[in-house]
Amino acid sequence: MAEPLHLVNPETCRGDGICVDVCPENVLEILDGKASTVESREEHCILCGQCVAVCPTEAIHMPTLPDDLGELTASGFGYEEYLDFLRRRRSVRVFKDRPVERDLIDKILTAAATAPMGMPPHSTEVVVLDSRDEHDFLLHELVKDYESMVRAFSNPVGRTMVRLASGAETYKVLKDYIVDLAEYANEAYHRDGTDRYMYRAPLLLLFHGNRWAMSYEENAHLVCHHAMLAALSLGLGTTIIGMIPPVVDRSKVLRERYGIPKDNRVLTSLIVGYPKYKYKKSIHRDLASVRMM
Ligand SMILES: Cc1cc2nc3c(=O)[nH]c(=O)nc-3n(C[C@H](O)[C@H](O)[C@H](O)COP(=O)(O)O)c2cc1C
Repeated sequence: MAEPLHLVNPETCRGDGICVDVCPENVLEILDGKASTVESREEHCILCGQCVAVCPTEAIHMPTLPDDLGELTASGFGYEEYLDFLRRRRSVRVFKDRPVERDLIDKILTAAATAPMGMPPHSTEVVVLDSRDEHDFLLHELVKDYESMVRAFSNPVGRTMVRLASGAETYKVLKDYIVDLAEYANEAYHRDGTDRYMYRAPLLLLFHGNRWAMSYEENAHLVCHHAMLAALSLGLGTTIIGMIPPVVDRSKVLRERYGIPKDNRVLTSLIVGYPKYKYKKSIHRDLASVRMM
């Protein structure tokens, strides 16, 4: 018989039902004053570990979870400090010529892994590119790919093909924004090697995920967002780069080079580095709309 997912210590379980309350899948119940698994629900356990995390007497153990569940301390900051921190984040596109140390990359990834996901475990995978050679190789591929897109847009047949292949919304974005940006970036590259895709950032993180996993796109964006804020907390600057993922996604050469599985889609990317300049002021922005009901 398979080992049960939840082991309850009857000595320490006081039957308070907190674990029952927090379980999103009703996998637990109180039987004879002690927490116990509802057999018919056990297969629905999503391994979120919330029952273990809330139990005041540490009476539940889940052997499938890692042993190093960290102790939480009281919240280290309040809303004002958090808002101030968030306001410090700007898209940084000018970097010092200084690599991002591996221990900082590890810290960023550790923080990124705290992001929520549609259903555990994480579907998001990361490719870390921190060598100049890899960046140069990718930059060359980006320029090549966007050159062929710009060429396609230069004639009606090409435009129709792009429209059919990419759908109306993507086509509009390409036509209204990307073609111009790409043309400008490519000119700069050919002129003197200027990198207007990754801005010569020393580190690029590429986020990809299995397209059959629940919410795999949102999952990757959340992981990227967590990584972005973690980098900020470490004194680094970042920018999300939307122009890279589609190119890597459709490139056989890059997919093979980065070991991206066939069923994975490349969803977002983040450049990271030490900002060359310090921002002294924040910017106020409102959401597109808020309706109180
Ligand atoms: C999904 C997404 C894609 C983006 N793609 C790019 C990009 O390809 N190149 C770039 O320079 N900035 C890119 N950005 C950064 C935005 O231009 C930037 O967030 C926006 O101008 C607001 O400025 P701020 O981040 O400094 O507040 C992207 C941001 C997001 C959220």
